[in-house]
Amino acid sequence: MIRPARDGDAGRLAEIHVAAWREAYREILPAAQLAGLSVVRRTRNWELWLAAPSVLTWVDERGGRPVGFATLGPLRAHGRTSRSLGELRMLYVDPEHWRRGIGRDLLERVLDAARERGFSQIVLWVLTQNLRARAFYSALGFEPDRTRQDTVGGHPVDETRYCLQLQQPAG
Ligand SMILES: CC(C)(COP(=O)(O)OP(=O)(O)OC[C@H]1O[C@@H](n2cnc3c(N)ncnc32)[C@H](O)[C@@H]1OP(=O)(O)O)[C@@H](O)C(=O)NCCC(=O)NCCS
Repeated sequence: MIRPARDGDAGRLAEIHVAAWREAYREILPAAQLAGLSVVRRTRNWELWLAAPSVLTWVDERGGRPVGFATLGPLRAHGRTSRSLGELRMLYVDPEHWRRGIGRDLLERVLDAARERGFSQIVLWVLTQNLRARAFYSALGFEPDRTRQDTVGGHPVDETRYCLQLQQPAG
C-alpha cells in the first residue's frame, strides 16, 4: 500500500535510508563514511523534510510497516525552483525488500503526482557508479542526459542525470 508519509514515519524512514545507503553505496563511498551514518541524525533530518510543504513523500507499507519511500519536488537549479520540471529527490527501498517491485510502484506513484501537478518532465540525479539504480531507471523508461561532479560528505562523486518526458493526464 502506498500512502503519503506522516510525521510519525520519520524514524522508520531514517532506518531505511541508512540501511539502503550502506548496502547500495558499499563499493562507492568510503566505509568510514557509511559506518558513521546515524539513524538518530537522519530522523531529525526527516522530521524537517516531512514538514517542508514543497516536497511530497510517499511510503510503501508492507505488513503495516514502511519498506520504501520516494520524494517529489520541483527541480532546483541555480538557486531557483522550476514550475515545469519535477525532481525525484529520493527513492529508497529497504535492502531486504529489493527486487520485489516496490521501487517501481513508488516511482509510478511519483509519476502520477508529477503529471497531476502539471510537470512536463521528471528528472533525477544518481551516482554514476550506482549501476543498480541506473538499471532500474532505464528499465522504467528514463534516459541519461547529462553528468556533473559533486561531493557526498566531502567525498568526490560523479553523478548522472536521468529524465523522462511526461504525458499529461487525459481530460
Ligand atoms: C534502485 C531501487 C530503488 C530499486 O528498487 P526495487 O524495489 O529493488 O526495484 P524493482 O523491484 O521495482 O525493480 C523494477 C525493475 O528495475 C530493474 N532493476 C531493479 N533492480 C535491478 C538490479 N539490481 N539489476 C538490474 N535491474 C534491476 C529491473 O528491470 C526490475 O524489473 P524486474 O525485477 O521485473 O526485472 C533500490 O535498489 C534501492 O533502494 N537502491 C538503493 C537506493 C538507491 O540507489 N536509490 C536511487 C538513488 S537516486
